[in-house]
Amino acid sequence: MSANVSEYKVTWVKEEFVDFLLEKINPLLGYKSVKAKVISIKKLADSMVEVTLKPNRNYQKHAAGQFVFVTIEYKGVLHQRAYSIVSGSDDRYVVIAAKEQGLVSGYLANDLKVGQIIPITLPQGDFTLSGVSPSQPLLFIAGGSGITPMQGLIKEALDKGFKDITMLYYSRDPAYREDLEALAHLHPEFKLHIVVDSEAKPARFNEKSLTDIGVDLNQVHTFLCGAPGLMKAVNELWDKKGASDKLTQERFLAPEADENAESFPVLFRQKQKEFESQGNLLASAEAAGLKPAFGCRMGVCNTCVCEKVSGKVRNQLTGKISDQQGEQIKLCISEALSPLVIDA
Ligand SMILES: Cc1cc2nc3c(=O)[nH]c(=O)nc-3n(C[C@H](O)[C@H](O)[C@H](O)COP(=O)(O)OP(=O)(O)OC[C@H]3O[C@@H](n4cnc5c(N)ncnc54)[C@H](O)[C@@H]3O)c2cc1C
Ligand code: FES
Repeated sequence: MSANVSEYKVTWVKEEFVDFLLEKINPLLGYKSVKAKVISIKKLADSMVEVTLKPNRNYQKHAAGQFVFVTIEYKGVLHQRAYSIVSGSDDRYVVIAAKEQGLVSGYLANDLKVGQIIPITLPQGDFTLSGVSPSQPLLFIAGGSGITPMQGLIKEALDKGFKDITMLYYSRDPAYREDLEALAHLHPEFKLHIVVDSEAKPARFNEKSLTDIGVDLNQVHTFLCGAPGLMKAVNELWDKKGASDKLTQERFLAPEADENAESFPVLFRQKQKEFESQGNLLASAEAAGLKPAFGCRMGVCNTCVCEKVSGKVRNQLTGKISDQQGEQIKLCISEALSPLVIDA
């Protein structure tokens, strides 16, 4: 293999070295790297913690509803997770809120310190109002921590002059309740419906939930973010009514595993470990005691990408089938449809 000499570019100084030098002057500085300083940490309802971050100059303005990846170092290992931005697009701070449930959210809730500098990414995602006309009635359906991207979106919709905005928010202990009630009080065009349920008596979303609040799903553009059960119920109803093209959704977690899915043997070739996979490949590998690298568990960050040496898998988000040898797959959103060999 011969390299094209004219394409060769001399790198005089490595970016990491420039970052290293800049950090000596001010830890928030970076050549191209995006970092943020922790300005405040506040406990919210529903075991959530809100973190206000001041990003460095390399950050680019976010749109309401987008998310950033946050990286933390825990016991010498870097861990990255996605968090939706609570603050609106005109806010110079990046506000995120995490529900305490595992490694990174636990770190944000208990170990993060005001003044600490953490790496973040540029804002990403298309859970935004882009392309939706202000004459279009909006419906926001949130469940639990799915309230986070809705906060900025609702404020932006009000600022942009949307005339008819309804929110249906399910939670056992609603975070941001006072903020939302204050908005509804101030803006008659914003109709707020909070359903507080309990573990003993969980709420169930169905067609009647919409008639009860006077919403015709065919007349609204809907934004959805919540627990897998709520996402599934809404998707099924919107599919049935032929309204899926008017549903914009953000998933924090991959769809729930299908308990009736067939199981297949999977070989992780490098580790020489074979296990039975039923439903999600990443979860099946973890259940078998393996520890594949992962980040978002949602098909966004590419941390879990592996080569599929042989066999057939389905992408659980898009339904797309991969049956060719040597294709790259994401373990976190793939399901085996045949025996598999994976280069992991
Ligand atoms: C676009 C996007 C936006 C998001 N926005 C938010 C947000 O605004 N707020 C928010 O709270 N979250 C949000 N999330 C979810 C967030 O990224 C994290 O997934 C969440 O905080 C959990 O991460 P963790 O490190 O705390 O938990 P983890 O340690 O990753 O554990 C989470 C779950 O993964 C499973 N798991 C992990 N390790 C294993 C193992 N070894 N074996 C078996 N199961 C295992 C368990 O079920 C566990 O409960 C978002 C996700 C995406 C994709
Ligand atoms: S863990 Fe992020 S793409 Fe799979």
